[in-house]
Amino acid sequence: MKNFDCSIPTRIIFGEDGEKQVGKLIREYGFHKVLIHYGGGSVKRSGLLGQVKELLDKEGVGYVELGGVQPNPTLSLVREGIELCRKERVDLILAIGGGSVLDSSKSIGDGAGNPDRDVWDFFLGKAAPAGHIPVAAILTLSASGSEMSQSAVLTNEETGLKRGFNSPTHQPLFSICNPKLTYSVSKFQTGCGTVDIMMHTLERYFGWSKDSAITDRISEGLLKAVIEAGRIADQNPEDYEARATLMWAGSLSHNGLTGFGREFLMQVHQLEHELSGMYPRIAHGAGLSALWASWARYVCPAWPERFAQYASRVWNVDGDFEHPMNTALAGIKATEDYFKSLGMPVSLEELEVEPEKFEEMAEKCTNYGRRTLAGIRKLDKPEMIEIFKLAYPRR
Ligand code: NZQ
Ligand code: ZN
Repeated sequence: MKNFDCSIPTRIIFGEDGEKQVGKLIREYGFHKVLIHYGGGSVKRSGLLGQVKELLDKEGVGYVELGGVQPNPTLSLVREGIELCRKERVDLILAIGGGSVLDSSKSIGDGAGNPDRDVWDFFLGKAAPAGHIPVAAILTLSASGSEMSQSAVLTNEETGLKRGFNSPTHQPLFSICNPKLTYSVSKFQTGCGTVDIMMHTLERYFGWSKDSAITDRISEGLLKAVIEAGRIADQNPEDYEARATLMWAGSLSHNGLTGFGREFLMQVHQLEHELSGMYPRIAHGAGLSALWASWARYVCPAWPERFAQYASRVWNVDGDFEHPMNTALAGIKATEDYFKSLGMPVSLEELEVEPEKFEEMAEKCTNYGRRTLAGIRKLDKPEMIEIFKLAYPRR
């Protein structure tokens, strides 16, 4: 087991009606002026936005609002939010939505807390935020884990670059997680979320360090629960236990728990960010499901025993001890079939990605020749292009 530093300071208020506490909580923390940040309208349609405003009014907490966050959130709206925070002297950003709203909120918090810096510099790794406006959240979609993570991912629409960075400033102060708020999430977005949750654990599971028995068992248990809950939520969107499992697993899958003691880099995420960066219409979870099996088949020969362990413990594949590669490939196929069963794409062709863009996507993924992706198999530009090609044909 590798050394690690475990600190997950986000307070999670989990369960039915949690959102009703939001006004009281914010007043108790001592904040005066809130930026309510949200997406394209689901929180208006559900009545949640109106309810939150009433609760803030009741507690005498002031607020301004900024909606319009789109999936794969953009730098231009973040800049607007930063201006608004400065003008209105906002001291807390309340994200109501999924990962995109959360990440936009975190980015606004960084920008507003560092008036002498361009916020995009943080995403390019040129500086680290020295101050920030804190973020709290009411989560409405189980997927990104942003409600308990140190990550934020943002797209610069001018360059088509989607970049993420981790910072303690991104750890939300508190997140309210009521599974019932996810009942209205579409079948497609539920599938995207299930894939993303699995992927946050799988990317850590397929890191390159060898010993981490407890983290392995936590990860395998989480994956099994998510696979089952994903199936149930797909068929019955109002199954509370399934929605609750997905919601809590979403937070646990990306808050560090399934990676402690391991070394990993999340290669598939890096490849996917180039997809949804260049094609903002592609949902993050759909990009991941289209890429994962091809990535897995490509890197698997470097450590077939690891993939065989996954196949056997998570998918109950019978182990072929003489030929672990057979077991490994059966596990990859089982994952791919599961994604298909949720209606998720398993090829780039289905996403109408143009093969002539593979070179540019790989170039961007190497940060224009400045990085390779460490992993059980190291990926440089030619390997990335190869994976995109493998992932292209419809299957
Ligand atoms: O915008 P509205 O109208 O709210 O609709 C959203 C959006 O269209 C809808 N939705 C959300 N809650 C709903 C709902 N529809 C009905 N009922 C509800 N209760 O769902 C759509 C997708 O929302 P989005 O926030 O984009 O989805 P997700 O949570 O999957 O977030 C995706 C973003 O998170 C980033 C991704 O790259 C992507 O940009 N990630 C962030 C991470 C992090 N910060 O830790 C880690 C992840 O790996 C990921 O990269
Ligand atoms: Zn993800």
